[in-house]
Amino acid sequence: MQEHKSVYICSIMTNTAFEQIAAIIKGRRTTKPASLNGEKVPDEQINQLLELANWAPTHGRTEPWYFYVYTGEGLKNFGKTHGDLYWEHTPEDRRKEETREKLTHNVDNASHIIVAVMKRGENPKIPALEEIAAASAAIENILLGAEALGIAVMWNTGGMTHHHALKEYLGLGHDDLVMGIFYIGYTDEEKREGKRHTEIGEKVRWYR
Ligand SMILES: Cc1cc2nc3c(=O)[nH]c(=O)nc-3n(C[C@H](O)[C@H](O)[C@H](O)COP(=O)(O)O)c2cc1C
Repeated sequence: MQEHKSVYICSIMTNTAFEQIAAIIKGRRTTKPASLNGEKVPDEQINQLLELANWAPTHGRTEPWYFYVYTGEGLKNFGKTHGDLYWEHTPEDRRKEETREKLTHNVDNASHIIVAVMKRGENPKIPALEEIAAASAAIENILLGAEALGIAVMWNTGGMTHHHALKEYLGLGHDDLVMGIFYIGYTDEEKREGKRHTEIGEKVRWYR
């Protein structure tokens, strides 16, 4: 009887936990840097998000996720550097002043920026694809933690994200990758309604 009761209580708790995490997963929305309001997120909360990242699954325990956090003057400097790198590494006939301005000023209303990196480990048994997968899982942990704390984030891969010049600036190796630039802060805007083009049922095959 006692055992039966504990299984019952456990199943209620599991259901509640599922509902909570489902609400966070489905409620998470991308917030563009222009929609941030300039308010600061406490550094402690940024550390809490990074701690979640460190609990992502990792094949071969390579833990390939690394994060560069910018705030205050560091944030402004990153924005300027991003604009400058774009300007220096884009051919004259293609570069646009407005793009440089955008990359420089994207940081203006952000509280923090996190540049997420996949550092390629030395275990030859783990393919790069799996290191990218693990780093992506770490990033998703950050996004979900942010949603739970009411923090707005955008995963951005524009500008110089995939350019070797940013890798060099960050001191990364040839096989490392910048996974994205994350603009973090708060927003006063209403949350957008989430949309997905295809129902999950159309992406799944069951074999019974
Ligand atoms: C790998 C990756 C890169 C992304 N890069 C950009 C980007 O450069 N610019 C952008 O507007 N959104 C970017 N996004 C965010 C998507 O636009 C966003 O996730 C998508 O519109 C779905 O909206 P939701 O996140 O609110 O559900 C990126 C998302 C992922 C997963």
